[in-house]
Amino acid sequence: MAHAEVIAPGATIGILGGGQLGRMLAQAAARLGYRCHIFAPEADQPAAQVSAAATRAAYADAAALRAFAAAVSVVTYEFENVPVETVRLLDPLVPVRPGARSLEVAQDRLNEKSFANALGIGTAAFVAVDDADGLKAAIARIAPPAILKTRRLGYDGKGQAVIDDARDLDAAWTTIGKAPAILEARVDFEREISVVVARAADGATACYVPVENRHQAGILDMTTAPAPISPALARDAEALAARVAQALDHVGVLCIELFVTKGGALLMNELAPRVHNSGHWTIDACGASQFEQHIRAVCGLPLGGPERHSDAVMKNLIGDDAARWPALLADPGAHVHLYGKAEARPGRKMGHVTWIKPRTGRQGQN
Ligand SMILES: Nc1ncnc2c1ncn2[C@@H]1O[C@H](COP(=O)(O)OP(=O)(O)O)[C@@H](O)[C@H]1O
Ligand SMILES: [Mg+2]
Repeated sequence: MAHAEVIAPGATIGILGGGQLGRMLAQAAARLGYRCHIFAPEADQPAAQVSAAATRAAYADAAALRAFAAAVSVVTYEFENVPVETVRLLDPLVPVRPGARSLEVAQDRLNEKSFANALGIGTAAFVAVDDADGLKAAIARIAPPAILKTRRLGYDGKGQAVIDDARDLDAAWTTIGKAPAILEARVDFEREISVVVARAADGATACYVPVENRHQAGILDMTTAPAPISPALARDAEALAARVAQALDHVGVLCIELFVTKGGALLMNELAPRVHNSGHWTIDACGASQFEQHIRAVCGLPLGGPERHSDAVMKNLIGDDAARWPALLADPGAHVHLYGKAEARPGRKMGHVTWIKPRTGRQGQN
């Protein structure tokens, strides 16, 4: 087990990625007395607005990465498509947590699902698809309805095509850009849940209660904490998340997205090796938020308490939703979070709102 040195408050934490997840990590880090240095290629960086330093450079810019490594005490990431080579370049210079293995598994849907199955965790049935002929062979094994997904770089439902009929193959192959893919069976699920778990450098884990997620057009719309599932299923989901974190030797926060089937089984859909949108409610409803847990873990500190003091509903503000801020701020029960993004494009996550109410159920545990 890795024995990580403690990075004490006052140090500077490097964060690869400049979006809202980096912003909320930097806010949590600041509360614990750390500074953050953001490294990202984009011009509009919500994270840089609240950080002590920022480098705008490409993830392949070796000189910029070396200078970044020299300026920080530890590096983490808020974006799971940071190239693995970037982490490999940084790692001999400065500790990178979580490590390259978590990225390698999570960046590729084929690796991710194979990894889950190897741990005995169920997934939707899937087959790798490398070309148009491969898709024909795959549809013979995974009958429609099915979903074709690019192996890499998909997010918010992008890089996916639903196949309801075996005659739709050409259109689906074109829709996903003819990239290496997997074909997976469409799961007729009862609900979607996720589990956010933190794992410390010493191997200790802390799980937040499983939550239910509702999506709109492939994008997370609303999270309800806790998910309305049985205590036994909740415990199974938490154990599963901890097992994934352990198997990856993950240090930091990760999230697993699960389908609850109509028969009450858990199937893993995705793994995010980072803080996650479905964990934003923890800022307003838990002793230590997912962002604070991540900072604690990567700095070699003990984890905080994941117990919730309140139940919560979190709603994303997507695109023009953010224009509702005057009404939301006029609601005394609304905890409003805005990400400081300049432009409200359709489908863009601009902020979120959390409403909390007194906690119910599962007392004494999460
Ligand atoms: N095999 C499936 N069966 C049913 N619904 C699915 C399946 N795969 C994805 N979905 C739906 O699409 C959403 C987005 O897909 P996901 O694989 O999580 O990709 P991403 O979040 O990276 O875009 C899921 O949250 C779920 O609502
Ligand atoms: Mg997803």
